[in-house]
Amino acid sequence: MAVTVKSAREIELMKKAGKILAKTHELLAAEIKPGISTYEINKKGEEIIRSFDCIPSFLNYNGYPASICISVNDEVVHGIPSKQRIVQEGDIVSLDAGVIYKGYHSDAARTVAVGEISKEAKKLMDVTKQCFFEGIKFAKEGHRLYEISAAINNYADRFGYGVVRDLVGHGIGANLHEDPQIPNFRQRGRGMRLQAGMTLAIEPMINLGRSDVVWLDDDWTVVTDDGSLSAHYENTVLVTKGEPEILSL
Ligand code: MF3
Ligand code: CO
Repeated sequence: MAVTVKSAREIELMKKAGKILAKTHELLAAEIKPGISTYEINKKGEEIIRSFDCIPSFLNYNGYPASICISVNDEVVHGIPSKQRIVQEGDIVSLDAGVIYKGYHSDAARTVAVGEISKEAKKLMDVTKQCFFEGIKFAKEGHRLYEISAAINNYADRFGYGVVRDLVGHGIGANLHEDPQIPNFRQRGRGMRLQAGMTLAIEPMINLGRSDVVWLDDDWTVVTDDGSLSAHYENTVLVTKGEPEILSL
């Protein structure tokens, strides 16, 4: 599939989808307290998304059974909500959500703290978020795709963290996943030239320990191989001739 440059009309719809998703994350983060199950978090998330007349894009995507991917501590991404999984004080919880508004997608993830968390967990969350901001410095017309990848990787390296290599960011628009793939690690070559009107989901997944991940038997949940904590931060971004616009913030 070719990389698309969005029309003014498509960009308007994606801006609306992004605003709704930003609000969804804000409302959902406020629900995260010790004792809540990931099942309840998902239920609340789906209600919020539908209250904005949007469709939760993850629900039934390739058979994924929920609206919000909820990944706790050493879970990297795609954790499946469960009545048995109760979040506890000190946990870090990655919430990944997608909405469709009038046929257009927005995709964003946040990692949130449950009550008081360790200093090292807080630092991992902060660095993961900053990795995103380092990456989008290059999400501008005239720059190359892999400048984003390198900037994310270089920033994470400063802290000795593991950059997940088995999952990547992506183009987004009328589909949740479009070309190009956007690795969070350094690449050979420079990658494609970025153009105003491209819309990208940039999503560093960073581990406190090594970068290796494994899939659990549910075929969805991705966990760190060494059991270390992992954080995720993602937004849908519009490439322009100047500063990138973060649509889901
Ligand atoms: N949010 C994921 C991404 O960024 C997609 C989740 S796919 C699902 O690409 F199937 F788990 F919903
Ligand atoms: Co994504």
